[in-house]
Amino acid sequence: MEDSLNILLVDDNPDDRALARREIGREFPNCQFQQVTSAKELSQAIESTRWDMVVTDYQLLWTDGITVLLAVKVRWPDCPVIMFTGSGNEEVAVQAMKAGLDDYVLKSPKHYARLASAVHMALERLKQRRALRQAETRYQSLCDDVPVGLFRVARDGRIIDANPALIEMLGFPDRQALLAVNAMNFFADSTERHALLNALKGSEIIRFFETRFYRRDGKLIWAEVNARVIRHDLEQVACYEGSLEDITSRKEAEQSFRESEARKGAILDSAPDAVITINEGGCIIEFNPAAERIFGRRRDDVLGKELAGLIIPHSLREKHRRGLEHYLATGHSVMLGKRVELTALRAQDKEFPVELTINKVNLDGPPLFTGFIRDITDRKRAEKQLRDSREQLRALAGYLQSVREEERTRISREVHDELGQALTGLKMDLAWLNKRRAEVGDAQELRQFEEKLKELPERVDGIIAAVRKIATELRPPVLDDFGLEAAIEWQIHEFEKRTGIHCRFTCTLKDLDLDPDRATAVFRIFQETLTNIVRHAEATQVEIHLREEGQKLILEVHDNGRGMSGRELSGTRSLGLLGMRERATMLDGEVNIIGRQGKGTTVGVRIPIHRTSEGQKK
Ligand SMILES: Nc1ncnc2c1ncn2[C@@H]1O[C@H](COP(=O)(O)OP(=O)(O)O)[C@@H](O)[C@H]1O
Ligand SMILES: [Mg+2]
Repeated sequence: MEDSLNILLVDDNPDDRALARREIGREFPNCQFQQVTSAKELSQAIESTRWDMVVTDYQLLWTDGITVLLAVKVRWPDCPVIMFTGSGNEEVAVQAMKAGLDDYVLKSPKHYARLASAVHMALERLKQRRALRQAETRYQSLCDDVPVGLFRVARDGRIIDANPALIEMLGFPDRQALLAVNAMNFFADSTERHALLNALKGSEIIRFFETRFYRRDGKLIWAEVNARVIRHDLEQVACYEGSLEDITSRKEAEQSFRESEARKGAILDSAPDAVITINEGGCIIEFNPAAERIFGRRRDDVLGKELAGLIIPHSLREKHRRGLEHYLATGHSVMLGKRVELTALRAQDKEFPVELTINKVNLDGPPLFTGFIRDITDRKRAEKQLRDSREQLRALAGYLQSVREEERTRISREVHDELGQALTGLKMDLAWLNKRRAEVGDAQELRQFEEKLKELPERVDGIIAAVRKIATELRPPVLDDFGLEAAIEWQIHEFEKRTGIHCRFTCTLKDLDLDPDRATAVFRIFQETLTNIVRHAEATQVEIHLREEGQKLILEVHDNGRGMSGRELSGTRSLGLLGMRERATMLDGEVNIIGRQGKGTTVGVRIPIHRTSEGQKK
């Protein structure tokens, strides 16, 4: 390109023009020259063509070199102009350089040779200027187009420069309006502003500083600031320069993520069930407080460990591992989404029953599995208790039925034996009397007759006694008439008479007005206790205490027999004992039995006393 330079030559002297041509042509052989020698020609030449270079004399007949220079620069500010003169002086040179002259070469043999290199240098400078301008333009358009706010701010907060993105980010209509505001006013929080400035002063540069700014409309935005200090000399801070990115939506997303994490955390923390999440490798990645409690292990100790080895009993581990592998390979599982009851393992290798539901967590990437686990030990125990007590209830009902049958049999036997015999005797006597009444003749027969007659009331008395005995055994009237203490005394008396076992009775009750239900219950329990002693205890002595203690009636029966064993005590089929307990529980009381091998058995009954009178007052 330099080879075909178009150069405009402004010089009145033909020799000088030839000289210039020769000197330049030496370096640039393909140079084209046009020469002008009048103002008219000059203005035409400037107007019509874009010259690569203008070489002008200073002293011209029709003008001077500076005027030429100015005329050229007005039209082509870029076009290099060199003054080639013999008449100029230093003053002219300075003036011309100020007006944009590229070089000044003297027309003297010593300096001719410099002309070509002046052209060369002028062209070089032009190239550099153009490159610089291009770079500036590129930089400018980058600043204009980049979606990040860019700024330059003076030390006092005056905004020196801002790009369109920043103007828009802060909600200003144009650059002018933004530059009119002091940058310090944008900070929403003065402590954050201080922090930012201090950090900048401390380290010259600050990165990823997050803070809040007010927009022009008063709205708050979150921005990330990157900035550095610009110093012109080493001491003085000239300005700050940097970028501002609107991160409001990221911040909001972070905030809502944090909130949802917090909510999730709160749910996990307060869940009554264990919530455990494992990854596809079967390792624990989540273990909530309920899980810690239920399994007796700390979250920090189990995270990252394999679930199977920690909370699955040895017998089920392989099954669990195979199930997981099978699912990962085929996508099929018999466990997912179902509620199942299993045995789990807590610390110290203790097994316990759990209810478990496993769900797959659908996220990008490998699957996670979350298990919800409930400790059902209590429920299982309650279920067993319920089953047992149903069983007992059924047995008890049967027992009561058979007891009633026994009672009926006994009564019918007694009625049959005692009353039957007595009445049969009476009937026979009556028949005899009837027959003999007509035949009574002599005095001896009359005596016999009268004696028979005399026997009759006795027989009737016998029958009455038998009736009373039967009735008493069914329900001793002494209980209703004289109360519990008297009834127990009577029962002890009967017991001693029947069995020969010696009894000692102490009673410290005073004026106890027990309601009939309670009295009957205690009395029946007492009867059953005595029956057991006869049947099982092999005792020779029985001690009975009846007392009141803290609003409770207490009956203790101690025998010196073989002593009841623990197994006998807990046997669910011990219906006599069960009946005793049932009676006590119905009245909010309890029965305690202590048996000591070879040292006898003590039965203690405790029943709250609700004195009838008090009950009525209420
Ligand atoms: N005072 C006692 N001394 C020793 N063993 C007793 C005594 N009372 C009860 N037992 C034992 O407890 C068992 C349960 O008693 P119980 O429920 O009344 O049943 P049953 O009297 O019908 O056998 C008895 O079979 C007996 O082995
Ligand atoms: Mg019994």
